[in-house]
Amino acid sequence: QTLSERSVAAVAEYIKSGRARRIVVMTGAGISTAAGIPDFRSPETGLYANLASLNLPEPEAVFDLSFFRQNPAPFYVLAKDLYPGNYHPTVSHVFISLLASKGLLHQLFTQNIDCLERAAGIPADLIVEAHGSFAAQRCIECKTPFGDAPMREHVRAGKVPRCERAPECDGLVKPDIVFFGEALPRLFFERTRMAAEADLILVMGTSLQVHPFASLPNLAPESVPRVLFNLERVGTLGSHADDVLVLGDCDAGVRKLADELGWREELETRWRE
Ligand code: OAD
Repeated sequence: QTLSERSVAAVAEYIKSGRARRIVVMTGAGISTAAGIPDFRSPETGLYANLASLNLPEPEAVFDLSFFRQNPAPFYVLAKDLYPGNYHPTVSHVFISLLASKGLLHQLFTQNIDCLERAAGIPADLIVEAHGSFAAQRCIECKTPFGDAPMREHVRAGKVPRCERAPECDGLVKPDIVFFGEALPRLFFERTRMAAEADLILVMGTSLQVHPFASLPNLAPESVPRVLFNLERVGTLGSHADDVLVLGDCDAGVRKLADELGWREELETRWRE
């Protein structure tokens, strides 16, 4: 065992001893709920439980490419709520950016499309947006890029954008978010080796229900400590000798770790900035 015990204090001690220099963080919607963005699968507050008004065959259809082709409107109802710019990074985002400033962040893999990692100041080359983001958009047929300003305008007005090459192409425009039925960005596959190289893995705010992302925490050797900051136990977390489960609100868990590390003040100051 690498940790003296399965506790937040032991994780802090491991980091402070200098043995964790390649920390890999894997995040999901749970790290943004404190910012006011709903997650997907929480029973009452999650997006999938609240899409009834959109008359979808099943909630996941809102992110399904073949459904989008027939009926893009529900996605654009949701996009209006999720569109970046209206939200601020959480304590959990800021903690990850603190790891980056201290040279300890090897790679962040996020499933989130809210761009709050960038907003928290995490350097772009350390972020893998595994499910894409709202940062760019294109026609789903001819792939012609669509402008940022008209996109923002369409989303705000709840209008479905169409290819700028009309009338030759009348394809639907979609943000570069990975829908069900689409491949993940190449960068995800190029960087999976970073997960394998980790000397500490932090999993935060994800149900680990969607593959291939869900298998990332299993890529490092079993001796590598993994810490889960989540409301519930997920995936295989808890099954290795050095897994530490910090169950509850992830911001609270991260504050506990920051306390143990002596980083608490720095964390709060940065978060308030
Ligand atoms: P989920 O909604 O599936 O899971 C969120 C997890 O975070 C759950 O386990 C919650 O219990 C937990 N959680 C919520 N709030 C929390 C808090 N304040 N503190 C700690 N834990 C909290 O979201 P993801 O795992 O991100 O795909 O979902 C994965 C993918 O499924 C998404 O990227 C999305 C969706 O279909 C696309 O958008 C393409």
